[in-house]
Parts: sequence; structure tokens; C-alpha cells
Amino acid sequence: MMSDKLITVTAPLLPNLDDFHEMLKEIWASKWITNNGAFHKQLEKALCEYLKVPYISLFTNGTLPLITALQALRITGEVITTPYSFVATTHSLWWNGIKPVFVDIDPATGNIDPDKIEAAITPKTTAIMPVHVYGKPCDTQRIQEIADKYGLKIIYDAAHAFGVEVNGESILNAGDMSTLSFHATKVYNTIEGGALVMHDEKTKQRIDYLKNFGFANEVEVVAPGINSKMDEMRSAYGLLSLKQVDAAIEARHQAAIRYREVLRPVEGITFMDDMPGVKHNYSYFPIFVDAEKYGMTRDELYFKMKEQGVLGRRYFYPLISEFSTYRGLPSSSKENLPNAHKMADSVICLPMHHELSKEDVERILETIVK
Ligand SMILES: Cc1ncc(COP(=O)(O)O)c(C=O)c1O
Repeated sequence: MMSDKLITVTAPLLPNLDDFHEMLKEIWASKWITNNGAFHKQLEKALCEYLKVPYISLFTNGTLPLITALQALRITGEVITTPYSFVATTHSLWWNGIKPVFVDIDPATGNIDPDKIEAAITPKTTAIMPVHVYGKPCDTQRIQEIADKYGLKIIYDAAHAFGVEVNGESILNAGDMSTLSFHATKVYNTIEGGALVMHDEKTKQRIDYLKNFGFANEVEVVAPGINSKMDEMRSAYGLLSLKQVDAAIEARHQAAIRYREVLRPVEGITFMDDMPGVKHNYSYFPIFVDAEKYGMTRDELYFKMKEQGVLGRRYFYPLISEFSTYRGLPSSSKENLPNAHKMADSVICLPMHHELSKEDVERILETIVK
């Protein structure tokens, strides 16, 4: 008999409520609720250790670190980026008056194709903003080589790449800066939240000024900053979630193993395997539907799953380049982005979170395997 329990695409990793309550009591006692409080400092330190990065600055979400990194590096003109991402990536450019230039993706990873970057560079190009889509690492070495050759900066949108490592090194150390999102839907969350990862103390200082209106001290404002400081409640929540994140990633890993085992022989359904030398975080499990081989279109399968109480997500569809703000750009033309269109038109992200039971996983698979 079919269960009528709704299986959602994600579920937030919530800290233990009693532990959280104890920390809230400390905050209430101190009466220090935001502005670089004790838990904020502790969380920055704990995240540097966990993520194996030298410096981190906490933010209120994952969008403002993108906007702030562009400000800090004084990026102007044109920035090369990917259309296969969440809209915030490109919006951060627009909010800085920068023209996004879309480059097609590598169909094997969903990430910007380094082979196509050079052709998009013009005298106005100042930076590259790639995304580690689904937490799959970009080819950071190739991208760095191109950036060095043309004197460009690199800001990685690493919103999906919490804890991802390549050959034992954090992917967050690549490029000039990397941003993280700690939104409720992410592997690690602080309800709303995010961070910027940087390589040196001077940049951290500059970012800390910028996220606090540009204040360098009580009387000096050194830049037109923004307000994006993480408060003490979320910092405390984040300290507790950090203790649970390894177990949550392992639970996701187990679901991914079973998904792959059952879906590998299914005609017309493909997915991404783990990459050699990479520590993955299993933040998403995208499958790609070849309508001809599978006998059903992506949307037909998506709605069939929905009818059976399994909520997948067509993530990333439509492409950013298809939204009204961006579709008039020359680089948004369909001919420029064939791989991105193909992926956006065939993708369904299956439910993926730490609370999926074995029965849930089997039920999800039954909706796909005819
Ligand atoms: C790739 C990517 N970039 C940026 C963001 C923005 O993060 P936030 O929602 O925390 O502002 C997200 C969030 O979903 C994302 O997926």
C-alpha cells in the first residue's frame, strides 16, 4: 500500500533544542545579542578549523558575501559566470552594476567549462565568478591559470560546497575568495546565514568593515558598507549544528549509495558519480532524464513523483539567463549555452537530507523505476 507521507526535497538540520535553550540563557544573561559577540567569535574559529581555512567572516545570508566580495575587490565592468546556478549568483553582479557574461557548462559536472572562458574575455572583464554546483568542485587549477594569464580575480560561489575537499585540501581555499550559504536548506545551516572565506588577515579586516556599514572604529567609516552581521542566536545555533554535520553528511552519503545502486541500470536516467580524490558533502542528488530512452519527459516524471508524494525539485530550471533581467544579454542566447539548456531541461534533484529513512529512499526509487 502506498504511504501518503509527503517526502520533501530537503529537511533542516536542527540542533538539540535543550542545548540551544542553554545557550540562549547565556545570551540573555550577557545581554550581548549581536555585533561580534562571544558566540560569533567562537563560530568563526570553529568553522576555520572544521573547514580547514585560514580566515572566515560570518554573514546574515549567502547572497551578501557575494555582493561584498565584489565590493572588496573593486570588481567592475564584466564578470564571467555560469547560468546554471541559483539566481543570487548573477544578482550579486547586477547589484554592483556589473554586466554578467554567461559561459556554457561542462556536462560532466554542471560547472562552468574552463575551455570556453577565454573566448568570453573582453577588455572590460575583471573577474570570473564560478559556482561549485551541487558541491562538485570546479576545475580550480585551470580557472586560476586563465585568471593569472589575463589578470582577473576569482570569486567562487561555494554556497553548495560546505566541507568539500580535493586531495585533503578545502575547495574554499581556491581563487581570491569563496562564499558560503548557511540557509535552512543547506547541508549546514544557521537558519539564514552565510560566510566569506579569504586567505589573509588584511582582507578579513576589510570584509569585517564592509559588513558593518564600513565602520573601522567608532568615528571612522572607510567605505560605503552594508549591514550583514550574524547575530548571537544564529551563531549559537551554528555552533551546535556543527557538532551534527558529519553525521548528517554520512546519512546523505548512504542515501546516495542506494540511489546509485538502483538507478544505474535504468535506461534514460543518469546521475553524477563521486569524483576521485574528492570529499563530497552530498548536498544534492540530481538525476537527468533522457525522455526518448526513459519513455517519459522530465516534467512527466517530476509530476508523477509529486502525485505519489515525492517532492523532487527542478534545480536549476529555468537557467538564470532565461529570467527577464538577463535574457536580453548577448551571452544569454540559447546557442551560446547548449549544455546548460540540456541540463536545465532534464534535471530533477531527488529528495536528499539526513532524515530520509531506508523506506523513504525505496519509495522515492519506486516512483522512478518502472
Ligand atoms: C549557488 C547559490 N548561491 C547563492 C545562494 C544564496 O544564498 P542565501 O539563500 O543564503 O542568500 C544560494 C542559495 O540558495 C545558492 O544556491
